[in-house]
Amino acid sequence: MINTTLSKLKTVIASVQPQVKDVVKEGLKNRFFLRNYSTDDYEAIKDIPRVPVFLEKDEGVIAVSHPIDFTYRPKLTKDHIIKVVEDTQNEGAVVGSFCMSQKNVKVFGKEKKLYYVFDYSVRKDYRDQKITTLFNNHVEKTMKQEVLDNPECPPFFYASGTKDNIATKKRMSDLGIVPFCTQVQSGWKVDTKIDLPALPSDIEVQVRVEESVEKINKSWTNAFKDYNFTPMDFSDILDHCKQYCKKTYVLQFTKKGSNEVVVESSITIWNQDLLYTLKDSNGKVSPHRQLICCYSVGEEQYKDLAFQYLLKKVHNEQLKEGIDYLFIGLPETDPLIHHFPLIPGIRSLQFNGYLNVNNPKDQELLKEAEEKKIPMWNDPRDFGSLFLYKEKNEAQSL
Ligand SMILES: CC(C)(COP(=O)(O)OP(=O)(O)OC[C@H]1O[C@@H](n2cnc3c(N)ncnc32)[C@H](O)[C@@H]1OP(=O)(O)O)[C@@H](O)C(=O)NCCC(=O)NCCS
Repeated sequence: MINTTLSKLKTVIASVQPQVKDVVKEGLKNRFFLRNYSTDDYEAIKDIPRVPVFLEKDEGVIAVSHPIDFTYRPKLTKDHIIKVVEDTQNEGAVVGSFCMSQKNVKVFGKEKKLYYVFDYSVRKDYRDQKITTLFNNHVEKTMKQEVLDNPECPPFFYASGTKDNIATKKRMSDLGIVPFCTQVQSGWKVDTKIDLPALPSDIEVQVRVEESVEKINKSWTNAFKDYNFTPMDFSDILDHCKQYCKKTYVLQFTKKGSNEVVVESSITIWNQDLLYTLKDSNGKVSPHRQLICCYSVGEEQYKDLAFQYLLKKVHNEQLKEGIDYLFIGLPETDPLIHHFPLIPGIRSLQFNGYLNVNNPKDQELLKEAEEKKIPMWNDPRDFGSLFLYKEKNEAQSL
């Protein structure tokens, strides 16, 4: 009986929902409208807070970052758009901005177009009025056109947001873009030197800074060949974003008395300070860096030790350079995720990676990727504002 009533109710809700949505869309259309960003809009948008609502209320804040110029992040990708929303009833005030970039990535060894939807921001006094749906209408139009243009291999639409960001979750699900993987942001304070781990007596270690972009490109292409969502060409990062790729550390273990390399690990330092200003709770600016393109390839028995050695070495080097915080974002399937955070104290934040998985072929492949735990390459360009919060004490959270 209850079940029958419930199912009737669901049918009624399903039939009413589209009408409600349409009314909302009409209302929005009459008052607000979406257009391309122009430099004249900069002042109106630059100070819109980027901290997700639920994190704003968190009392354990250690440091939060804000974009130096919100147009820098979209520009990290050659093909991108920035859209803004105008309020026609308030002298054309610009009240929100949104970005979408387009990349060519490799998924299961094949080229796939990927639209990345990001940096939704709406002025505080305009929130909860569904303004984001205006931008979503644009995304939906692009999606539909792409399916018509490319029915065999429609592109992916990808987004990322903290797990608790309900507004993001709701608006993405309106588009059929749903959570498909968990990503973890780990950060730590760089204020003490760390001892390097002891090495087996038959191993020699060499750590160098690799200067050759060509060699780095080759190593990344090899190290991430089995990952999904890697760029078709790493020069997207190494050339187009070269000012952000500050330093690439490479470690090699060799067997004593021979030149045989048994493992190679690498960490690249991305200069996040050129994109965002990180301020601690007292307003002090804290230099920070993102770790990117981390790998450890070679003999299984040495992979973790080599990476742990390099990570500690990099931490010490960054301490010497006056860096206050290091952080990394990785999907939970990344083989190196258990190394982070290097030092406890800052809460790791969980994010949802969102994807449209409407195409049955893609659905099958992504399910396979999930079952086989195929890692997804983490794009440093996908990292927005950084939120660092004190780790919750077990007793407090109970
Ligand atoms: C995220 C953001 C752009 C949303 O803007 P907005 O104009 O308020 O979004 P919308 O009105 O379209 O959607 C908000 C929805 O989330 C719901 N929501 C928001 N916070 C919520 C909460 N804490 N609990 C439950 N529901 C919540 C609203 O009720 C609304 O749902 P509804 O459409 O079913 O009524 C805005 O909050 C913002 O600028 N935040 C700071 C930056 C940010 O977090 N960006 C996203 C990074 S991924």
